[in-house]
Amino acid sequence: MRIGYTYSALGDYHSSEIDIVLESDKEVAEGDLVYVRHPKNGEPVLFQVTKVYSHKEARDYEEALIKEGNVIVDEERTTVRAKAYQWGWLDGSALRPLRHPLKPNVPVFKAEPDVIERFTKPSSGWKILLGRDLSSGIDVELDLYYLIRQCCLICGAVGTGKTTTAISMVARAAQADPPVRFLIVDKDGEYKSLRTIFREDVKVIPWYEFFQPDDIRLEDLLAEFGWQKNWWTSKILMKAFDLLKNSGQQLVKKNLAAAVRAVRAEDIGFRRQDADFEGYKRQVLEAVKSSGTIPESTFQAVDPVEQIKRFKIVIMDLSKGSNGWAKKHVVLTQVLTRIFHHALENSDFGCVIVLEEAMYYAPQWTQFSIGDRDIRGRLLSIIKEIATNGGRNGVGLWVVTQRLATVDKTIITQCANNIVSHSLEDIDKRRLQEVVGDQFVELLGSLPQGEAIVKGTALKCRFPILVKVEPELRPTSAATPPIARFRIMEAKQRELKSVVAR
Ligand SMILES: Nc1ncnc2c1ncn2[C@@H]1O[C@H](COP(=O)(O)OP(=O)(O)O)[C@@H](O)[C@H]1O
Ligand SMILES: [Mg+2]
Repeated sequence: MRIGYTYSALGDYHSSEIDIVLESDKEVAEGDLVYVRHPKNGEPVLFQVTKVYSHKEARDYEEALIKEGNVIVDEERTTVRAKAYQWGWLDGSALRPLRHPLKPNVPVFKAEPDVIERFTKPSSGWKILLGRDLSSGIDVELDLYYLIRQCCLICGAVGTGKTTTAISMVARAAQADPPVRFLIVDKDGEYKSLRTIFREDVKVIPWYEFFQPDDIRLEDLLAEFGWQKNWWTSKILMKAFDLLKNSGQQLVKKNLAAAVRAVRAEDIGFRRQDADFEGYKRQVLEAVKSSGTIPESTFQAVDPVEQIKRFKIVIMDLSKGSNGWAKKHVVLTQVLTRIFHHALENSDFGCVIVLEEAMYYAPQWTQFSIGDRDIRGRLLSIIKEIATNGGRNGVGLWVVTQRLATVDKTIITQCANNIVSHSLEDIDKRRLQEVVGDQFVELLGSLPQGEAIVKGTALKCRFPILVKVEPELRPTSAATPPIARFRIMEAKQRELKSVVAR
C-alpha cells in the first residue's frame, strides 16, 4: 500500500534518511516500517519511521485570528509529514545499506507483514517468542543462540514490566528444544512462580546453602572484623588459618577456635615479654565466635553445577536469611566462579545466569555501594568475566535492571548486544543513548506497561523494533498487588473490632 512520497523542503534527497509527505487518507505511526523501491533492482529498501507530524504554512494574520478565537481549518494547506531512517535492503539474507541516491518524490509504501518478517524473523529454529510488533502484528522472536552467545539487558523504570519480560523469556527458553538451563539470582523471590509451569524441574535454594566455607579467604574475615593486616590479632588469625589448612579440617568455628588456641607466640614473631599475647588470642577467639561468615558446624554445601544438571531452573533465593550483603556477595562470587570454571573445562555444560536488580551485584561504584568494597570487587570481576567470555563458553548472562546509571559500565556495554528496554527515566535514557544510539532512545519515548523497544543480535535485523511483550507468566509479586494487601488488612481489622465489641 502506497502511503505517500518522499519530499524535501530544501530540495536535497539523501538515502540514509527520508522525509515523507503522506497522501491525505493515509496513516503512519512512529516505529512503523515503510519502504521505497531500490533504484537498481526494485527490492524493498526498508526505513523506520521516527517522527510523524502535521505541517501547515504559517500566515501572519492567523495568530491574530486565533487570539480572537477564530481558527481557519484549511485542510488544503495541511499535510502530514514523517521522518524515517534507513535499515537497508535484503541481498539474499544479508542486509545491505542502499548506496545509490534516491530520486526526488519516489513513492513510499507501508511494509506488509511478509516484508517485515523477511527482515526480522530469525532463521534458526532455536528461538523464543518475545511478543508482537505493534504496527504489523507479527511475532517478534529472538534467536537463543545469540541470547546466550552475547548477553542480554532487560531494563525499564519500576513497574514497567521488566520482571514479567524476563520471567516469560526464561519460561519459553526452558521449554525450547533443547531446553535452556538457568541459574536465577533472585533478590526478592519473584521467580518462584516458574514452578506453576515447571513444577519439579524448578529448584529454589536459599543462597546460604551454596556457601563453601573452605573458600573463605583471610581477607574476607579481616574485612568483617575491621582489622588491618599488620595487627597482632590478624597475624594470629593468619597462622590459625594455615594450621587449619594443613590439618585438612573444614573451616567452621569449632575447628578454627582450636587452631587459634594452638598458635604460639614465636609462630608469629611475638617477642614483647610484657605484652599480653593471650589477651590478643582471646580477642581473636571472641571475633571467631561472633563471626557471621564462619559457619557454626560442618555441613555439605550445595553445588550449583550439580543442581543445574538436575533441574532446568535453579533459583538462588536471596530473599531469605538476614545476613548482610557482604556475605551474599561472597556466596554469589563462589557460585558464579564455580559455574564459569566448570563450563570452561566441560563442553557438555552450559546455562544462562539471570541477574535481577543487577545494581546490587555489579554496581558502578561511584553511584551505588553496598556490602564490602573488596568482596564487591571480586564479585564484579567474575561478573565482568562472564559478561565478556561467558557466552562463547556456554554461560549466558541476562541482566535485569531499573537503573542503568548504577550498573557497571562494562557490563551495560556488553549486554547492549541484546536489549529489551521498557520506559526509562531521563538520566538512564542518556546512559543508553551513549551505548545504543539516538534512534533507539528516540523511539523509546514513554511506553505503556508491557511495551518495549527491542534491538540486538538475537533479532535478524540489527534495528530497534517496538514490541508488546506477550506474558507467559507473571512474577510472584503480581499475585498480591498493593490493593489486595490493603483489602486484607482492612478486613482483618474489622474482624478484630467486631470480636472486641462482642
Ligand atoms: N507484558 C505485559 N503485558 C501486560 N501487562 C504487563 C506486562 N508486563 C507487566 N505488566 C503489568 O505491569 C505490572 C508490573 O510488572 P513487573 O514485571 O513486575 O514490572 P517491573 O519488574 O518492571 O517492576 C504487572 O503487574 C502487570 O500488571
Ligand atoms: Mg521487577
